[in-house]
Amino acid sequence: MTPKVATAVLISGSGSNLQALLDAAVAPDFPASIALVLSNKADAYGLQRAERAGIPTQVISHRDFPTREAFDAAMQEILVNSGVELICLAGFMRLLTPGFVEKWAGRMLNIHPSLLPAFKGLHTHERAIEAGVKFTGCTVHFVSAEMDAGPIIMQATVPVFPDDTPDRLRERVLEAEHRIYPQSLRLAASGRLRIEGGRVIAQDAGTPQGWLANPVYPAIS
Ligand code: GRF
Repeated sequence: MTPKVATAVLISGSGSNLQALLDAAVAPDFPASIALVLSNKADAYGLQRAERAGIPTQVISHRDFPTREAFDAAMQEILVNSGVELICLAGFMRLLTPGFVEKWAGRMLNIHPSLLPAFKGLHTHERAIEAGVKFTGCTVHFVSAEMDAGPIIMQATVPVFPDDTPDRLRERVLEAEHRIYPQSLRLAASGRLRIEGGRVIAQDAGTPQGWLANPVYPAIS
């Protein structure tokens, strides 16, 4: 069997997406292994999830560094020493410096709780409800220097109901997140994604003729 691609997951909080990745990575045919969970917050609940799964953790507080550059350099050292080849940001609440992003270009994924490019930034569900959109969702994308931007790997939609609260909507979107993040990591780790002109082209394993420009992924029920 081909060796699994060692992947770091960076978190700051609950880590429910981390959990989805950990659960998926248990499957023998999953092409990535979660080799490290790194948090900038010592009390992030996701650290407990990682420990339960027997995954090494590291806490590195941004408060201990004078600049973003210094913090990112320290993270870089940890990541390089751990031998990871891919990074998944999963609720990691720090802006990354362009230098760091550049080092991991095409090898760092993020999940965002909206259909990008709509609703970048925070409070996405409040803003979606306020805007009166009928559908929202989530996006997994490669990270670029601009916040919540970068080539889109996968998206899933969920309906917004008239009586939704931000919390109810968050729950519904999270369910979709937990489905597409493992699917996206599977594609990335199996080398079936490439970036062309700012877009992601995915190769469908089931399609012998090769690359598909607009792969269709299972709808979220
Ligand atoms: C998710 O909604 C994710 O899309 C966003 O931050 C949240 C993290 O949630 N980037 P969790 O820590 O994975 O539960």
